[in-house]
Amino acid sequence: MNELEQLVHSARADFDAATTPADLENAKARYLGKSGRLTDLLKGLAALPPEEKKTRGAAINEAKQQVEALLNARRQALADAELERQLRAEALDVSLPGRRRGVAGLHPVTRAMERIEAIFGSMGFEVADGPEIESDWFNFTALNTPQDHPARSMHDTFYVEGGHLLRTHTSPMQIRHAVQHVKRHEARLASGLPMPDIRVIAPGRTYRVDSDATHSPMFHQVEGLWVGQNVSFKDLKAVYVNFLQEFFETTDIRIRFRPSYFPFTEPSAEIDMMFGSGPLKGRWLEVSGSGQVHPQVIRNMGLDPERYIGFAFGSGIDRLAMLRYGVNDLRLFFEGDLRFLSQFR
Ligand code: DAH
Repeated sequence: MNELEQLVHSARADFDAATTPADLENAKARYLGKSGRLTDLLKGLAALPPEEKKTRGAAINEAKQQVEALLNARRQALADAELERQLRAEALDVSLPGRRRGVAGLHPVTRAMERIEAIFGSMGFEVADGPEIESDWFNFTALNTPQDHPARSMHDTFYVEGGHLLRTHTSPMQIRHAVQHVKRHEARLASGLPMPDIRVIAPGRTYRVDSDATHSPMFHQVEGLWVGQNVSFKDLKAVYVNFLQEFFETTDIRIRFRPSYFPFTEPSAEIDMMFGSGPLKGRWLEVSGSGQVHPQVIRNMGLDPERYIGFAFGSGIDRLAMLRYGVNDLRLFFEGDLRFLSQFR
C-alpha cells in the first residue's frame, strides 16, 4: 500500500469511527481542513519539478476525491441512522385501545331534585336552601315540638357540640324562610298592608338514626310552604296533584289525603298516591306528610294566625326518585357503585 492508499484507508477508518456529525466534521478537518493531510500534500506540490507535479497532483486529487466520497457516504449513513432513531422514538402503537373520556351524568337524586325545583318553580315557588346542622329551636321547638314532646322520639338524630343537631327534616326551613320573608316585608306589615304570599320549596339533606332497605341515616326531603291570607287545603291538593302529574309525566294518578298527626300542622294528613298503570299499579304509596300550618308555627314565623293561614308538606325525594326510576333499594343511591350510577348518564 503506498502512502496515498494508506491515507485513504485511515480516512475510512476515522470516518467510520465517528458516531456523531460533530465527530465526523473533526475527522474531516484532519484530512481536508486548512492544515489537513491532503491539503498539506497539495501544498507540497509547489516544491516539485513540473513533470512530477503533474502525476503526483493527479494521484493526490484522486485520493482526495475518494476521501470526499467516503465522507459523503458516512454523512448520509449518520443522517439515516438519526432519522431512524427519531422515528423509533416517536413511534405510535396504533393497536393500543384509545383512552376514552368518561361520560358523566347527574346522580338520580340530583335529577329528581332538579325536576322538583323546575316543577314548583313553574308554579311560582321560590327555592330556598338552609343549614344541615340546625339548632334545636328551628328543628323542633319553633315547629311546636317542645323539649319533652313524644314526637321527638321518632326523630332520633346525630348531635354535634353546642346543642346543635343534624336536621331530622327540612321543616326548619319553614321558619327560617318565613322569618326572612316577614323581615323583607316589615314595612308593609307595620303599616297594616298585606305581605305577598310565602311560596317556597326547600330541598336538601336530612338525617336520622335509621338504616335499612328503605331508610338511610342520610336522606333527602323537599319542604313546601305556602302562607297567605287566603290559602286553603284545596290549594294544597291542586298544587300537589299537579306536581305528581308533572313529576311522573302522567295524569293516570290517584291521590288521597289520609288523616295523620304532626305537631306543626293542624289538621295533618299523609298524602298517598296510586298509579293507574305500570308495575306499581293499584298500590297506595305514601309520598308526603302535609297539613295546615299550626297557629303556633304561624306565630313563630312572626305572623298573626288570625290573618295568615297556609299549608305545608314534606316529601321524601329519594322515595320519589325510587318510584320514578324503578329502584327498589334506597342504599343503591348512596353506595357509589358505577354499575348502578352509569345507567343514569
Ligand atoms: N317533617 C315531616 C317529617 O319529616 C314531614 C312533614 C309533615 C312536613 C307535614 C310538613 C308537613 O311540612 O306539613 O316527618
